[in-house]
Amino acid sequence: MPEEDQGVQILAPAKSHPRSDEEYAPIKPKSSTPTSSSKCPVYLLAAIVLLTAIALVFSLVVLRPNTPDVELSQVIIEDLKYGNYSPNPSLNMTLSAEIRIKNSNFGKYEFENSTASVLYEDVVVGEAKLGQGSVSARKTERMSAVVDVRSQRLSDTKNLSRDISSGMLKLSSYARLSGKVLLIKKIKKQKTAIMNCTMTLNLRSRSVQELLCS
Ligand SMILES: *[C@@H]1O[C@H](CO)[C@@H](O)[C@H](O)[C@H]1NC(C)=O
Ligand SMILES: *[C@@H]1O[C@H](CO)[C@@H](O)[C@H](O)[C@H]1NC(C)=O
Ligand SMILES: *[C@@H]1O[C@H](CO)[C@@H](O)[C@H](O)[C@H]1NC(C)=O
Ligand SMILES: *[C@@H]1O[C@H](CO)[C@@H](O)[C@H](O)[C@H]1NC(C)=O
Repeated sequence: MPEEDQGVQILAPAKSHPRSDEEYAPIKPKSSTPTSSSKCPVYLLAAIVLLTAIALVFSLVVLRPNTPDVELSQVIIEDLKYGNYSPNPSLNMTLSAEIRIKNSNFGKYEFENSTASVLYEDVVVGEAKLGQGSVSARKTERMSAVVDVRSQRLSDTKNLSRDISSGMLKLSSYARLSGKVLLIKKIKKQKTAIMNCTMTLNLRSRSVQELLCS
């Protein structure tokens, strides 16, 4: 309390005229209090604006979950057998793939069991089970998958025959990972990450080319 009085006394002579007629008038300092208290709402407003801005940035950056990126990062042909037998062309192979999951969120991503499919002309010709897992905040995880591709799953093999003779087959790969992004404390947001890739199988070089993921 004595400190406050001192502060007011220092302020008072500076504001009032140097004329010492009413130097010890105690009313003057009281009249200066409304000006100092009128600054209070300004600071309060500035603080509210600042806190709102921080909350907005926080909610935009931290609380808005991004869908993790799922891509095939590598596909290796382990085993390949094919024959362009007249009525029934056939192709069997084992693909060893590496799936990369990139989580750009500020929270962990937990995903459930799923299936990765390999398709030829929109028909599933091979599948691999993907186990559940998680990716830490702002990290990338890799999963491996082995897919057995069997052309006997196709009902129409006309184009397969054409593609085997050309030596180039277009394949696509698809997986849907349903999971949750863990935000602060107990807030979880459902996010389904989709892997959708296309590739060209080169029968002569026994390799996968033009691997592209969207
Ligand atoms: C592919 O596998 C099927 C059975 O799984 C078999 O009948 C066929 O002969 C195989 N094709 C080749 C080219 O080995
Ligand atoms: C995921 O797969 C594993 C092993 O196949 C199984 O034990 C587990 O119960 C599955 N989890 C769910 C949520 O289906
Ligand atoms: C075979 O290929 C042609 C031309 O690329 C396409 O129009 C047709 O839909 C294909 N057939 C099947 C069964 O996908
Ligand atoms: C996969 O991506 C292609 C474009 O790259 C798109 O045309 C197609 O519809 C997508 N498939 C699925 C199942 O999302």
